[in-house]
Amino acid sequence: MKAAYFEEHGGPEVIKIGELPDPIAGTGEVVIDIHASSVNGADWKVREGSYKPVPYFPYILGRDFSGTVCEVGEGVSDFTIGDEVFGVCDVGQEGTYCEKISMKAALCAPKPNEQSHIEIAALALIGLTAVISIEDTLQLKADDKILIQGGAGGVASFAIQLAKYIGAHVISTTSAGNIDYVRGLGADEVIDYNAQDFRSVVSNCDAVFDTVGGDVARGAFNVLKKGGRAAFIASGANGLDAPSSDFTSLRPNVYRDRPHLERVVELIAAGAVTAPEVQLFSIDETVEAQKLSESRHFRGKLIFNIC
Ligand SMILES: NC(=O)c1ccc[n+]([C@@H]2O[C@H](COP(=O)([O-])OP(=O)(O)OC[C@H]3O[C@@H](n4cnc5c(N)ncnc54)[C@H](OP(=O)(O)O)[C@@H]3O)[C@@H](O)[C@H]2O)c1
Repeated sequence: MKAAYFEEHGGPEVIKIGELPDPIAGTGEVVIDIHASSVNGADWKVREGSYKPVPYFPYILGRDFSGTVCEVGEGVSDFTIGDEVFGVCDVGQEGTYCEKISMKAALCAPKPNEQSHIEIAALALIGLTAVISIEDTLQLKADDKILIQGGAGGVASFAIQLAKYIGAHVISTTSAGNIDYVRGLGADEVIDYNAQDFRSVVSNCDAVFDTVGGDVARGAFNVLKKGGRAAFIASGANGLDAPSSDFTSLRPNVYRDRPHLERVVELIAAGAVTAPEVQLFSIDETVEAQKLSESRHFRGKLIFNIC
């Protein structure tokens, strides 16, 4: 199969494009012909080795996909060859910047017919992350006031739509060129972070969902009301302690399972969320996609349109 992979940690230049052996389905697994997969914010950090060394080389990045089952392993009864599925790799597994992947069947869900493979690949990991963060972790309620940092990014695009569906008042941040896009997702108030410091214009929030990290993440506690809660998913915000017992600091545990993928599908079917804006790449264009992701200034999702 064709794949983008690397054999040593480093900059985008370590990415190679070539042929690697096709995967085979182990017990409880299916092999999927990938039609679309996505670039996630963590991928370039894995490539450069800033998380931890990857367990083997050659290593293929990528955590989510949409495709068609082409092989069924022993013990799998819920899928057959030809089924259209989508999913998110288990924590510690990667490998969707390529044409095929073997996956635990339990981590796949039927792809809805109404959306394209590209749309579903764009929604998979961001949907799982937003559902676990907004519904399970922050337990956002109607009429809560929430600040969602990084509104034009993938996870925030889903989170804004979900928070509006729940009935919350949503404030978000982005750069000037993306203000209309973030408003279009449903945000009630959008702050241009280059023009205004959110700490001086936002206050009294019930919740903050930070997808940016660093100093922006630390600012969450300046805008929460007493009893408020903040959830952090960006690297650099690990172990961010609340400055006092007035606030709760949360780190969503984005585990992978079929029920949360089905919740994503349910939200799409309800008309609560639609796919973010996508920019398409071929596997040959992986270096370009990685550079754009690393810049952290683009809109929505970067998607591999595979076959
Ligand atoms: N814990 C988990 O399981 C998990 C799961 C998924 C993602 N993540 C992490 O969550 C973070 C977000 O990922 P993502 O894929 O949604 O997006 P991303 O690719 O990391 O970020 C892109 C977006 O960030 C915005 N941005 C950059 N600096 C900003 C700032 N100072 N204020 C507001 N917005 C800013 C950009 O908008 P502008 O161009 O307008 O600046 C751009 O749209 C990443 O760190 C990722 O690794 C964690």
